Amino acid sequence: RRPAVLGRGAVVATVPVAVAALLTAAGPATAAGTVGASGVGDPYFPFAGNGGYHVDHYGLTLGYDPASRHLTGTAVLVARATQKLTRFDLDFKGLKITGLTVDRDKAAYKRSGQELVVTPSRALRKGQTFRITVRYNGKPGPVTDPDGSLDGWVPTDDGAFVAGEPQGAMTWFPANNHPLDKASYDFTITVPKGRTAVANGVLLGQSTKNGRTTFRWRQKEPMAAYLATATVGKFKVKQYTTRGGVKVYDAVDPREASAAAPVLKKLPSVLDWESKLFGPYPYRAAGSIVDRAPSVGYALETQTRPVYSSAPDLSTLVHESAHQWFGNSVSLTSWKDIWLNEGFATYTEWLYDEQHGGESAQKTFDSLYARPASDSLWEFPPADPGSGAHIFSDPVYARGAMTLHVLRTAVGDRDFFRILRAWAKQHRYGHGTTAQFERLAEQESGVRLDKLFKTWLHTKGKPGHP
Ligand code: ARG
Ligand code: ZN
Repeated sequence: RRPAVLGRGAVVATVPVAVAALLTAAGPATAAGTVGASGVGDPYFPFAGNGGYHVDHYGLTLGYDPASRHLTGTAVLVARATQKLTRFDLDFKGLKITGLTVDRDKAAYKRSGQELVVTPSRALRKGQTFRITVRYNGKPGPVTDPDGSLDGWVPTDDGAFVAGEPQGAMTWFPANNHPLDKASYDFTITVPKGRTAVANGVLLGQSTKNGRTTFRWRQKEPMAAYLATATVGKFKVKQYTTRGGVKVYDAVDPREASAAAPVLKKLPSVLDWESKLFGPYPYRAAGSIVDRAPSVGYALETQTRPVYSSAPDLSTLVHESAHQWFGNSVSLTSWKDIWLNEGFATYTEWLYDEQHGGESAQKTFDSLYARPASDSLWEFPPADPGSGAHIFSDPVYARGAMTLHVLRTAVGDRDFFRILRAWAKQHRYGHGTTAQFERLAEQESGVRLDKLFKTWLHTKGKPGHP
């Protein structure tokens, strides 16, 4: 989440749907015979992800030296071919590769933009499990997103802020970089003694030798590459286990500590409250990373452990926590559906206010609805912001949340909250689409909602008063 003012901004020409479809059909996503496609066919990010295989597991061994900003990495990917493959791609941008093997045999490779094109010495059979090992090093830096924001590996004065939505994972490890492909992760990260390296999931252990500390993290439940982190800094660390048995690990930049403490303390109660609304918390680990990074200016719901570029307010913590259900456990099938993440997380903020002595969701809705027809809020429909440049804009966040409020009013509270719980349950650890959500809402409520969704999700311009 980011300050609202950053989410708006200059209007960028939208890519017409027909052109986007053409790009996908004629261009990068096309697989020719036994060659894996260079994208999964996402209309907003045609080169994101790759075709022909799924990754089951990433083992990432990293060493980072904040002084020289040098990263050394070994990535071991366990993957499964979904077609015969004489060649396949990974997404990996920038860093120098010093070795690449497929099942222990040296593989040929070349690089082209974000595509790392790998030709194994022997073709992979359909259904075959194979292991890709990539050794690499260099000075990683972020990518600039279509909306002008930075993501990926962002060096800071004492380490690095690492967040990858939507594209940045490929700046620090080779990946099948699209939320369609989720995997488990192991991280082994070595940093100078006195620095902390925080990744996703559970801390398996840490040990210090020869002035360097190694942190081992495990993310068992499936995770999209963009939600991985390996944030490094000088942090104050706090660990505890909640009454529900969730392992919490907080890492906080001392300069943000006094502002962050009262908010981070609320995490267990926020997760409890959200579990009552949405169903069981999907992960065995939780926590927060607060790492001062002025050039970033947003927070990301990195899986199990959101990362904040400054001390968060409570609404932001509620928002990033809600993403653990909506976005992380239930993942996007296409970036175009981003309102399924951001609209839901934003509406959770409204619900939190409503149930904790603040403004009612109706009032929040009303003050947004009062904005004039010319306001940027109405510029795109939430379910198709038009291009990657607009995926973090007001129509996605605020109008997405407004859509959920209109749905709630139409079906009543009981059915509305049943719909949210059914969504989280049916797609747990998987994926969802806007069309699937619309169908589920109709099924659970028995109300015809096609007009409501057409108006609120698919038509640009200010809708008539519901
Ligand atoms: N998903 C994040 C949130 O709303 C926002 C990430 C923004 N990323 C970016 N590259 N601008 O919680
Ligand atoms: Zn969000």
